[in-house]
Amino acid sequence: MNYRHAFHAGNPADVMKHAALARVLTYFAKKDNAYRVVDTHAGAGIYDLGGTSALKTGEADEGIERVLAADLPEPVAALLAPYLDTVRTLRQSSSPRRYPGSPALALALGRPQDRFLFCELHGEERQKLEKNVGDDHRAKIMNQNGWQAVGAHLPPRERRGVLLIDPPFEEPGEFHRLVEALKSAYERFATGTVMLWYPIKDLQAVDAFRRDVARLGLPKTLKVEIDFAEVRSLTQLSGSGLIIVNPPFTLADEMRTILTAINPLMARDGKGRVRVSWLTQGG
Ligand SMILES: C[S@@+](CC[C@H](N)C(=O)[O-])C[C@H]1O[C@@H](n2cnc3c(N)ncnc32)[C@H](O)[C@@H]1O
Repeated sequence: MNYRHAFHAGNPADVMKHAALARVLTYFAKKDNAYRVVDTHAGAGIYDLGGTSALKTGEADEGIERVLAADLPEPVAALLAPYLDTVRTLRQSSSPRRYPGSPALALALGRPQDRFLFCELHGEERQKLEKNVGDDHRAKIMNQNGWQAVGAHLPPRERRGVLLIDPPFEEPGEFHRLVEALKSAYERFATGTVMLWYPIKDLQAVDAFRRDVARLGLPKTLKVEIDFAEVRSLTQLSGSGLIIVNPPFTLADEMRTILTAINPLMARDGKGRVRVSWLTQGG
């Protein structure tokens, strides 16, 4: 396991993923009933974008820093407020270039009654996660393989919740594992919201993955994708995708509005394509 998210934190892919997570959790918070977030590949929880790793790639400068600096139109700013306010609050309370990963963002948006399970296999990353969010009594941090967490922790006791699967894609077979995990999650927790993140590099692999997901025939499967660079090679990230099963009914329109406004800011050609569409609908 060589992947370290500190090199990529706050990049355009993180921005689209975290903006979507924040919208989903904002919707969940409209009902008082508790929910649970299961984050199978949690990372370190909080990142320092002024640190050596982040500065080495400079990826956050093309992502969150551009979005924070932009003068966004009111509807977009309002939709992004739960996410961007979390980033700003974290920066005010600590150092000016900190960035919340999915655990810190989820906890910031969660209420006292909500619960959070974070799996992280890498020892150093897990220690950082413990340090960053471990004091929060709502959070449970596990040294568990995220792929096994799906079977072990679903359905949640609350019967409401979000499963986020955000693997590093450093080993072959991750697309296949995502499809298998989605199938297994749906069998255990058909009403849960599942978010799968995937890289857009190898277009054939992405195409096959979308087809495999659609073939599962689950109702209400939304695809959200952005391209922020030209496709140059099978190894260079040119875009970012999310499959979201059982999204809030508002999410497709919200993500279209958000990404149409911010992806041109992040894209290297200043255009930035956005694709939001249903792989399957109904149910
Ligand atoms: C893309 S990063 C996660 C980023 C995080 N979800 C966020 O949005 O801030 C993937 C993380 O998964 C961890 N990891 C890799 N394989 C894993 C596995 N099988 N189970 C749990 N964690 C794993 C890596 O150490 C890395 O920290």
